[in-house]
Amino acid sequence: MDTFWGPDFAGLEREDPEIARVLLDELDRQRTGLQLIASENFTSPAVLAALGSTLNDKYAEGYPGRRYYGGCAEVDRAEVLAVERAKELFGAEHANVQPHSGASANLAAYAALAEPGDTVLAMELPHGGHLTHGSRVNFSGKWFHPIGYRVSPHTEEIDYDEVRDLALAHRPKLIICGATAYPRTIDFALFREIADEVGAYLMVDAAHFIGLVAGRAVPSPVPHADVVTCTTHKVLRGPRGGMILCRADLAQRVDKAVFPFSQGGPMMHVIAAKAVALREASGAAFQAYARQVVDNARALALGLAQEGMRPVSGGTDTHLVLADLRELGVTGAEAEARCDRARITLNKNAIPFDPQRPAVASGIRVGSPGVTTQGMREGEMRRIAGLIGAAVRSDPSTADGARRLAGAADEVHDLVRRFPAYARQEVMA
Ligand SMILES: Cc1ncc(COP(=O)(O)O)c(C=O)c1O
Repeated sequence: MDTFWGPDFAGLEREDPEIARVLLDELDRQRTGLQLIASENFTSPAVLAALGSTLNDKYAEGYPGRRYYGGCAEVDRAEVLAVERAKELFGAEHANVQPHSGASANLAAYAALAEPGDTVLAMELPHGGHLTHGSRVNFSGKWFHPIGYRVSPHTEEIDYDEVRDLALAHRPKLIICGATAYPRTIDFALFREIADEVGAYLMVDAAHFIGLVAGRAVPSPVPHADVVTCTTHKVLRGPRGGMILCRADLAQRVDKAVFPFSQGGPMMHVIAAKAVALREASGAAFQAYARQVVDNARALALGLAQEGMRPVSGGTDTHLVLADLRELGVTGAEAEARCDRARITLNKNAIPFDPQRPAVASGIRVGSPGVTTQGMREGEMRRIAGLIGAAVRSDPSTADGARRLAGAADEVHDLVRRFPAYARQEVMA
């Protein structure tokens, strides 16, 4: 059998050396620095192989067995496998694996559950919510009527009393929980109770933590939600993309909301890669990984606190830490830039009740999924926290600060060399 399936790096180098150079430089960047963006991870070579395959070439509008194009028997098998694996892994009655991204999954979920103009209750963006949870610059804020809930100023955890009060006052059609920058587990049962009290649908946006659910490291929203949306590329460690899980009685509405309502042809190479990732996430090894992701995030939170960077809400139950830098007198934007010079990639982030503009922000968000995939553990997290602390406190406009940042970059390089993101033979060799 012909084993050609697509990726031919030598061919790419001959055909398009400029793009080949970009690919090599990005691989080098991933290998030689610390990747601490909470929504990123390192996919396996098997996932990358499916992504770089000729399934990319196939048009398959519709669903398995009900396509608008011929020649779909093979890609149908990939989609059925992805759907069955998702249902099995998450105990869901129905799965739609076609959303192109988390935002696309959310658009489809809104379309399945609400009408334009309906009231939607979701977490405010500055308190950790996502753009698709009612931001005025997004479809969710333009086409729906968003009401925002916040975290408590005392605990910095979701203020469930406020959620209930707002739900009773505004009678939303849809309540959303799940966030982008919230380090704590969410009480899905309580959200369900509130939704039932006001006759609302409950949608859980599990984009960030669905991988932890797969690995049984945090509670599952599936038994409580009407619809769970997620991405497949964060802790779950799959290709960039989205997915929707729901009860059987909502299956048809969800499927129609994805196609034909909000999308055209599905990306069959991505769907095959989702199937690969879902299989990888089903084993005991992934459960150990997910537990380690949380242990590592906790160690990072502790280490950052010792460096004077206060973990918002006092710590984390998940894969991410939100740290308040105000005690150090450094903004999130400055910290991000300084860490970048030390080969540490992380992002500035608003903290709850942030006095700074979002583009400046008082905090940073740090995640453990990538470094845990590399095999790092608590000891390395303590070292990373120390390196972040050193970088954040080094002012690059002074000779001493620039020297210390260069020193931190060397230390980062030494650390990641012992835990390569991709062993050299794994990709593009
Ligand atoms: C909670 C949440 N929902 C949705 C999304 C959107 O995902 P995507 O970037 O794939 O559209 C994100 C992205 O970070 C997210 O954090």
